[in-house]
Amino acid sequence: MKSVLLSAIGSVVPRGGLPVLLLLFLAYFTSTSTAYDALDPTGNITLKWDVISWTPDGYVAVVTMFNFQQYRHIQEPGWSLGWTWAKKEVIWNMMGAQTTEQGDCSKFKAGIPHCCKKDPTVVDLLPGTPYNQQIANCCKGGVLNSWAQDPNNAVSSFQISVGSAGTTNKTVKLPKNFTLKAPGPGYTCGPAKIVRPTQYITSDKRRTTQALMTWNVTCSYSQFLAQKTPSCCVSLSSFYNDTIVNCPTCTCGCQNKTAHGSCVNPDSPYLSSVVSESGKAINTPLVQCTSHMCPIRIHWHVKLNYKEYWRIKITITNFNYRMNYSQWNLVVQHPNFDNITENFSFNYKSLSPYEGLNDTAMLWGVKFYNDFLSSAGPLGNVQSEILFRKDKSTFTFDKGWAFPRRIYFNGENCVMPPPDSYPWLPNASSKLVFSLLTTVIATLASLFILLN
Ligand SMILES: *[C@@H]1O[C@H](CO)[C@@H](O)[C@H](O)[C@H]1NC(C)=O
Ligand SMILES: *[C@@H]1O[C@H](CO)[C@@H](O)[C@H](O)[C@H]1NC(C)=O
Ligand SMILES: *[C@@H]1O[C@H](CO)[C@@H](O)[C@H](O)[C@H]1NC(C)=O
Ligand SMILES: *[C@@H]1O[C@H](CO)[C@@H](O)[C@H](O)[C@H]1NC(C)=O
Ligand SMILES: *[C@@H]1O[C@H](CO)[C@@H](O)[C@H](O)[C@H]1NC(C)=O
Ligand SMILES: *[C@@H]1O[C@H](CO)[C@@H](O)[C@H](O)[C@H]1NC(C)=O
Ligand SMILES: *[C@@H]1O[C@H](CO)[C@@H](O)[C@H](O)[C@H]1NC(C)=O
Ligand SMILES: *[C@@H]1O[C@H](CO)[C@@H](O)[C@H](O)[C@H]1NC(C)=O
Ligand SMILES: *[C@@H]1O[C@H](CO)[C@@H](O)[C@H](O)[C@H]1NC(C)=O
Ligand SMILES: *[C@@H]1O[C@H](CO)[C@@H](O)[C@H](O)[C@H]1NC(C)=O
Repeated sequence: MKSVLLSAIGSVVPRGGLPVLLLLFLAYFTSTSTAYDALDPTGNITLKWDVISWTPDGYVAVVTMFNFQQYRHIQEPGWSLGWTWAKKEVIWNMMGAQTTEQGDCSKFKAGIPHCCKKDPTVVDLLPGTPYNQQIANCCKGGVLNSWAQDPNNAVSSFQISVGSAGTTNKTVKLPKNFTLKAPGPGYTCGPAKIVRPTQYITSDKRRTTQALMTWNVTCSYSQFLAQKTPSCCVSLSSFYNDTIVNCPTCTCGCQNKTAHGSCVNPDSPYLSSVVSESGKAINTPLVQCTSHMCPIRIHWHVKLNYKEYWRIKITITNFNYRMNYSQWNLVVQHPNFDNITENFSFNYKSLSPYEGLNDTAMLWGVKFYNDFLSSAGPLGNVQSEILFRKDKSTFTFDKGWAFPRRIYFNGENCVMPPPDSYPWLPNASSKLVFSLLTTVIATLASLFILLN
């Protein structure tokens, strides 16, 4: 039955159309129905606890956080990590990080622990911390870059000295119930698991030694858990049609004309006072008034057509007055990313989450040139062009083929305009094809639900 349906589609959809459709369709299902990210299937943050010495009442461990996610990073104000002790442990001292609360240490008369809470919460120290409180890879203000973009800065460590009367290497109990906030919700962490054999790299990175005991915790992200409203959208234009297809209206919220402060106009006298308001958490956005109200807009312009090549221009615009993005990245899915010829002024890396799937790329800024996306205003945009080599068997300007299938900004899915609004080639009878496609998608969707 499936094959009958597929061949039926084959006859309706012209060259190049079917894979696109299927990908869109699969992407839709995998991104909405599970926590799992189809473009980064093994993406996770791993915490590794290496016990480096036993102490009279406990142990000293180096805790290292690896951000193995290809394109999702943790930006200011940074991560916080919590757990629950299995017994009556206390933290005697920490290097490279600190707990947010000391808790009740009144039992201790001499030698007061750093933290006596049953469920401590740890935050990173800021850069510039005095040398005697540091260890290697610490003190980044909780900021962790993504693995594809900057693996050297995707790792963070702290050292913890744990005490609990009577703990030995035979009785040590692993901490439980790990929680990672970045800083909001979105991550869930599994249980700690003992790892053998254990290797531990000393803090000068020049020697690998054996840890006495090691356990790992894996945390993974889910956009569903984060329960974020969309935070970015995509607009489209092309050289062959004057229409600029804007982001869908109210993508990230609607303007409320009666409530002040839902958004600001760039010429409003009120602007300077709200932007400079100090003490406001930087993760409460203050956006410029637009029809879509998104803090971020990605514009994809199909710019030029050559005989063998074609060229696009991507512009990222920041509409948030309260946010600078210092390590922004884009993930873009388009069939021609299997053969990119030249990237101008953005870094580029092909992402191949699966064998044979190479239509996805990651783009990010060039250091000291456009890696910093300033807050809303005249400087709040970055742009780049990409030159693709045409593959004669799939290339077409027809039916919106030249537009991206999916775009993520900093790991968040950006809302695309509806496919039937894409700019047409002059005289194209796209209306008919698109309505056919919509019917086919609906049919396929119901079939997939039945098959699952
Ligand atoms: C976490 O990511 C690493 C690196 O990609 C991978 O090797 C490992 O299997 C992942 N762990 C889980 C539990 O997915
Ligand atoms: C526990 O420590 C003792 C001595 O410190 C050592 O001989 C033993 O191998 C250790 N056991 C484990 C499981 O690490
Ligand atoms: C685990 O942590 C969460 C949040 O800190 C808390 O709500 C929950 O009760 C904890 N569960 C256990 C078993 O400690
Ligand atoms: C534990 O974490 C380390 C560092 O991320 C990794 O190399 C190792 O494969 C992990 N082990 C397991 C069993 O997950
Ligand atoms: C607009 O804001 C006012 C005052 O805050 C509120 O009462 C009203 O419900 C809002 N309208 C919409 C459409 O959100
Ligand atoms: C953004 O960066 C500029 C220049 O570094 C700085 O002046 C401004 O205060 C920053 N804005 C925010 C909201 O962090
Ligand atoms: C990619 O481009 C090269 C020339 O730059 C061409 O030889 C090759 O066939 C192209 N590959 C695909 C998959 O289109
Ligand atoms: C294209 O991307 C590569 C890989 O990130 C980078 O080394 C190169 O500088 C980029 N090219 C330009 C012109 O920005
Ligand atoms: C993309 O995948 C196709 C089919 O597996 C392969 O022929 C092509 O060489 C790949 N292109 C790149 C750039 O890896
Ligand atoms: C441009 O595309 C729009 C659809 O977005 C269509 O309504 C319009 O007719 C097209 N213009 C031309 C000249 O084809």
